[in-house]
Amino acid sequence: MSALSPGRAHYLDHAATTPMVAAAVDEMRARLGDVGNASSLHASGRRARRLVEEAREQVAGALGARPSEVVFTAGGTEADNLAIKGLFWARGGRRRVLTTAVEHHAVLDPVDWLARHEGAEVNLLPVDAVGAVRLDALNAVLERDPGAVALLSCMWVNNEVGTVHPLGEVTALAHAYGVPVHTDAVQTVGHLPVDLAALEIDAISISGHKVGGPQGVGALLVRRELDLVPLLHGGGQERDLRSGTADVAGIRAFAVAVEQAVQRRPTQAPQLRRLRDSLVTGIRAAVPDAVLNGPTAGAGEDARAPGIAHLTFPGCDGDALLMLLDAQGIECSTGSACTAGVPQPSHVLLAMGADDAAARGSLRFSLGHDSTQDDVDAAVTAIGPVVERARTAGLAAAAGRR
Ligand SMILES: Cc1ncc(COP(=O)(O)O)c(C=O)c1O
Repeated sequence: MSALSPGRAHYLDHAATTPMVAAAVDEMRARLGDVGNASSLHASGRRARRLVEEAREQVAGALGARPSEVVFTAGGTEADNLAIKGLFWARGGRRRVLTTAVEHHAVLDPVDWLARHEGAEVNLLPVDAVGAVRLDALNAVLERDPGAVALLSCMWVNNEVGTVHPLGEVTALAHAYGVPVHTDAVQTVGHLPVDLAALEIDAISISGHKVGGPQGVGALLVRRELDLVPLLHGGGQERDLRSGTADVAGIRAFAVAVEQAVQRRPTQAPQLRRLRDSLVTGIRAAVPDAVLNGPTAGAGEDARAPGIAHLTFPGCDGDALLMLLDAQGIECSTGSACTAGVPQPSHVLLAMGADDAAARGSLRFSLGHDSTQDDVDAAVTAIGPVVERARTAGLAAAAGRR
């Protein structure tokens, strides 16, 4: 189904970015030659505006929102920043920000920025051994001076291990104390049902390039009654919440991709689960001491994102495994960040209780709309010898240091 996949071998990194679907590419191509600023009053401007508003209706319809609740952004990172800083500033005087220890850096870093520059008091909520936020801890921090809490941001699906947080319970708890809830659903759309109205969440971040749309486009779904202070000031576009000339081609392609991802989900999710389970079974047969991180098989299919498998390979360095697999045309990820070129142990695994070595020795395989059994089989065939080599290299390096 992917429209563009030049020279790709076995791509198992859909959580990093997934190929654009053909319909989104077609829509983007069709719009790139158009002229017209969606804020201009003449016919070309009005046409551009109509295209943007149709896209807004499409995204809203697919995700249980009203069109006026869709704020287009330049991706998930901007949507997260707008929700977190925007809510913090709008809730004047409330200093406390609650979030989980396993968020993406697009949430952790703006929260940290608020602590360093705006005097926010941050509570990083702990998670359990499978990576789900602990509701007892949330309750405890909410009970303590709830009137001082500006917001709670809790991701929906963890991008590294694929754990699904109990967002219904999280939202109900926070709302009982009058605290607005933002969720980063960047890894959720197309994998789980997302409905702004049904879950009563106040703001939801989504991103185009995780659902088969273009990179650099996303949205914040935000309830009309919620006040936000904008990050960007200028022409007053997007209800004055996000100034800047609308990216008509990108927004149109994004809307097509969101709609298709939502329509595909009921058939795609079970397919991805089957492929993921086959991958995990195959890897464990090839490397018997590999450990699957996140919810166990018995936890039920709703506990884990359908397309993500995250495993620790004891005695290996995750980056070495990644490069060895890459040399064989198998593309995956360690899931964790690199700071100034230095690989860091995964903050997600550390928060789940893993030690430093395990947090460095893990890989994330993530499947998407064009994944096949062939991709899975290639990874399963390669993994045994690759782990052997990484272990030998690790032992040799350790001997050299002695
Ligand atoms: C959970 C999560 N949030 C936010 C982002 C950032 O989104 P974007 O790349 O659209 O800025 C990502 C991307 O990896 C993500 O996985």
